[in-house]
Amino acid sequence: MRGFKSLILLQLVYITSCMDQLHIVYEWTQLDFQFPTLDDRHQAISNGTFIPENNMPMGVEVYGDRLFITVPRWRTGVPASLTYINLKDNSTVSPKLIPYPNWGAHIPGPDGKPEIVSPFRVRADKCNRLWVVDNGKINNLGNNTIKYPPAILIYDLTTDTLLRKYELPKDQVKEDSGFANIAVEDRDCDDTYAYAGDVGKAGIVVYSWAKNDSWRISHHFFHPDPLACDFSVKGYNFSWTDAIFGLGLSGPNADNYSTLYFHPMASYNEFSVSTEYLRNQSLAENNFDAFKLLGSRGPNAQSSVSFVDPKTGVLFYSLVNLNAVACWRTTNKNYNMKNQGRIYMNDETMIYPSDIKVDYNDNLWILSNRMPIWMYGQLDPNEVNFRVFFAHVVDAISHTACDITPRSDILDKFVNKIKNVTNKIAAKVNPNSAATVSPFSIAEKELRTFKEKCARCLRGPNLLKTLVVFGCIIIVVQQISECVNKLMINIPVVTYTHFDFNKSIVYPSITFCREPAYKYDKLLDYGLYSHPRFTSTWMHFNFSVNLDYLWDEITYNEGEFFVQYGLEGSAENVELTSTLGFMMGRCFTLSPKVQLRQASKASGYSITLQHRDLDITTSTGVCPPGYHVYVHYTREPFTGLIDDAMTVEFVFILPPIVSYAEVEVYNGGLVDYLYINAGEAVDAKVTVDEYVKLSKADDPCTYLSNYSANNCTTQFVWSHVENFVGCSGPWMKSSLPRCSNYTTMRNLIRNYINIYKNNECETCPRFCRSYLYNAFVTDRQSFYVWDSSNKLWSLKSGYTRLQSQWIAAKEYASSPGGSSSEAPTGGVQDKVNGRHRGRHPTLGRDAYQSQSE
Ligand SMILES: *[C@@H]1O[C@H](CO)[C@@H](O)[C@H](O)[C@H]1NC(C)=O
Ligand SMILES: *[C@@H]1O[C@H](CO)[C@@H](O)[C@H](O)[C@H]1NC(C)=O
Ligand SMILES: *[C@@H]1O[C@H](CO)[C@@H](O)[C@H](O)[C@H]1NC(C)=O
Ligand SMILES: *[C@@H]1O[C@H](CO)[C@@H](O)[C@H](O)[C@H]1NC(C)=O
Ligand SMILES: *[C@@H]1O[C@H](CO)[C@@H](O)[C@H](O)[C@H]1NC(C)=O
Ligand SMILES: *[C@@H]1O[C@H](CO)[C@@H](O)[C@H](O)[C@H]1NC(C)=O
Ligand SMILES: *[C@@H]1O[C@H](CO)[C@@H](O)[C@H](O)[C@H]1NC(C)=O
Ligand SMILES: *[C@@H]1O[C@H](CO)[C@@H](O)[C@H](O)[C@H]1NC(C)=O
Ligand SMILES: *[C@@H]1O[C@H](CO)[C@@H](O)[C@H](O)[C@H]1NC(C)=O
Ligand SMILES: *[C@@H]1O[C@H](CO)[C@@H](O)[C@H](O)[C@H]1NC(C)=O
Ligand SMILES: *[C@@H]1O[C@H](CO)[C@@H](O)[C@H](O)[C@H]1NC(C)=O
Ligand SMILES: *[C@@H]1O[C@H](CO)[C@@H](O)[C@H](O)[C@H]1NC(C)=O
Repeated sequence: MRGFKSLILLQLVYITSCMDQLHIVYEWTQLDFQFPTLDDRHQAISNGTFIPENNMPMGVEVYGDRLFITVPRWRTGVPASLTYINLKDNSTVSPKLIPYPNWGAHIPGPDGKPEIVSPFRVRADKCNRLWVVDNGKINNLGNNTIKYPPAILIYDLTTDTLLRKYELPKDQVKEDSGFANIAVEDRDCDDTYAYAGDVGKAGIVVYSWAKNDSWRISHHFFHPDPLACDFSVKGYNFSWTDAIFGLGLSGPNADNYSTLYFHPMASYNEFSVSTEYLRNQSLAENNFDAFKLLGSRGPNAQSSVSFVDPKTGVLFYSLVNLNAVACWRTTNKNYNMKNQGRIYMNDETMIYPSDIKVDYNDNLWILSNRMPIWMYGQLDPNEVNFRVFFAHVVDAISHTACDITPRSDILDKFVNKIKNVTNKIAAKVNPNSAATVSPFSIAEKELRTFKEKCARCLRGPNLLKTLVVFGCIIIVVQQISECVNKLMINIPVVTYTHFDFNKSIVYPSITFCREPAYKYDKLLDYGLYSHPRFTSTWMHFNFSVNLDYLWDEITYNEGEFFVQYGLEGSAENVELTSTLGFMMGRCFTLSPKVQLRQASKASGYSITLQHRDLDITTSTGVCPPGYHVYVHYTREPFTGLIDDAMTVEFVFILPPIVSYAEVEVYNGGLVDYLYINAGEAVDAKVTVDEYVKLSKADDPCTYLSNYSANNCTTQFVWSHVENFVGCSGPWMKSSLPRCSNYTTMRNLIRNYINIYKNNECETCPRFCRSYLYNAFVTDRQSFYVWDSSNKLWSLKSGYTRLQSQWIAAKEYASSPGGSSSEAPTGGVQDKVNGRHRGRHPTLGRDAYQSQSE
């Protein structure tokens, strides 16, 4: 059990660095069927019953040990249109499809019509029934289309017998009707409702199991948006006017009705309606406003299928033009680009995601089938064309905007606000814009305005004093688990705990990066108006200034980071190193110099960090002022290569806050991450697993003792950038000179960002054995609150925790304009009895003042 759990933890972390939470479990170049005998197969091929290239998987569903796959009869030569594969059979990744319920249901009867004609998608309900919406058309891409009435077929999954066949009445089927999707509301097994979407002629047909009756609901939201009909997939451009397509049904709401989330395929918008209205035709017709517009996914974001996981409430949906699957938490108030998470995106493997399901064991299944290529071109039979992806839901959504672990909404808001400002700047400095004003002056004005606003809101009109508060992080390593000898050789990744032999405990290294990363006032002194990553900021920079000197000036030093730090009560136990990065500026890493023999709250790291009031009013950061904290294995040094989700280039679906500062380095990326706001105290517990990876030809790893994958990746990025640019930046160790004019600097920044973002994961092998630390926040409190009536920051009353720790907070008078002449005025407000661990640093002007013990 233990091994399994660790395995998941490991995946979580190592996945976030590479963005592939999904695994491919099945893949096919062409589909094949399990014919009774080989002879039957030959005969079927020779008489045209089976034409392999005409078979394309369309829908998936998983129930018990079976994975159902539909193969619609778009063309002739489809021997069976509803099939399954046995999940227990792991002998091949390209299994043959077994007809469901049997071959008999697919062989044409005397009237030429098989029992199951051409289903696109199916749904297994929790009551052991398989709902099949049969489109009824044969060869609809060919010339002689045969049409039978569409029907809903319901099978008993225990006995595999047909329970019911309900042909949709003629008045509910229109000339161009096509029923491609079905959602089933199975809260009550005897009063189940099925909702079948008509993509050809906008409408939903509702079938009631109890009444054995159906009716058709229309609404203008079901119609295609004429401005969203153009699609482009893998070079094929086409125009589809598909109406209502994605049907995602939530779990029961408080009133026992579910919410149906739906969208037409030719549309960027998402809508919802309570099934209360769908269940009663006259109610729906009289309440057209019960159908709600939720919002837009943004340009190019047409979606086909969708599915709601009832447990997490996450809506999954495909994005066909983007070869992606994305998600949105239905508990989120806003449906917009920012609140969408990217589950998976790949221009090779995820071409046309055609079905998405979550099974009853909380696993996500996705099928991709390259349909546009199949329809308008030809699939290459030597390539993998169809794939089934799999992931546990929790893994799939971890570190996306749909992550269900709660986050601070305040943080969201703050980020939003700053995004707005930076976006505006980006739009304005865009050289294509017609404005004749100097882009620099506009951007600067924007920032100034924002800065002033922010300063006002924090200080209040008459208050010139601002508190400077210290964040305090206490990191305690807690020992976990038992045995070492659980190494299972035939599993590629195995974990076990590692400090059982001699009871010594290897603490992790902790790296702190400050937010904002650069000193805004200093940047202004040098004519830079924002974070150096914005290339336009360099336009007016005087390049006779030495860049290394500049970086020393604009980054924060040790004294400006720490008030105190220590391990096991002493700073002597810690080695402090600094790293210069581009996105994060200067970061400091604490590494243990000693091995401890116990783990408790009283040992471990204790660190107090500080912030300047000036930072709170500056706008060089995207997050609110605070610290990024990385917990990582000491042998993989922190190298400052950080994912830069913070650039304001137009990105499809912004990553969520939690991954803003994930270490992008694939190889050594076994890093856990926390964000600490200024004024906050955080207790964290750290668990550790050792993982052992077996070297494989296509995924090698190394045992070289002085090797570091992070160093290797960093070197790789640096040397690549140098090759492209011919000069270097102060955060790079390089023999090339520093860049010396705007053109080369811009070039450097662009290439640097581009290369480290896209660097090949495989370039540097990982280390075969590594420690994986997982940090859990056990307590987190702001010890300062904003008192809006008195317009003051004040100490939270009744603040009694941190018994064995201390915190210090301090008040400064800030001279107007935020210059650096602030001087300490007030005393320290808080003391907590107990030991003070670590050292008392001699600090510059931010020195904390009195501290009672
Ligand atoms: C083609 O061969 C299959 C397999 O033997 C058989 O079941 C089917 O009836 C044949 N179809 C025709 C049209 O001959
Ligand atoms: C398939 O699964 C069985 C157990 O279900 C296992 O013993 C066997 O090793 C697996 N085979 C492969 C090729 O993974
Ligand atoms: C349909 O008929 C047209 C001419 O009538 C022919 O050119 C085309 O190839 C046919 N298509 C198929 C799929 O048979
Ligand atoms: C349901 O209704 C259809 C026709 O509308 C009928 O053919 C079928 O027998 C009915 N099934 C049951 C179980 O009543
Ligand atoms: C398809 O459309 C894209 C823009 O959406 C365009 O760049 C591309 O050239 C088009 N391809 C073809 C083959 O028309
Ligand atoms: C929902 O269903 C449950 C069980 O079927 C029932 O006890 C409850 O009263 C229902 N709630 C409403 C609001 O109808
Ligand atoms: C449908 O709703 C109407 C009110 O709009 C109500 O009069 C009618 O009884 C309902 N029908 C059913 C079957 O519940
Ligand atoms: C962002 O700007 C838009 C208009 O540009 C505005 O409608 C929206 O309210 C702003 N959001 C925030 C959080 O300020
Ligand atoms: C405990 O084991 C670790 C590695 O397993 C080793 O580095 C360390 O020296 C050992 N400590 C003692 C006190 O034996
Ligand atoms: C740039 O800085 C140098 C000294 O650092 C100074 O001599 C020179 O005048 C400055 N150039 C401009 C355009 O400000
Ligand atoms: C990684 O690089 C840093 C500085 O470049 C160096 O101090 C450290 O020893 C290197 N670590 C390894 C394991 O190579
Ligand atoms: C910028 O510097 C590079 C060499 O460092 C030089 O080749 C190039 O001409 C310079 N560009 C300008 C506009 O001065």
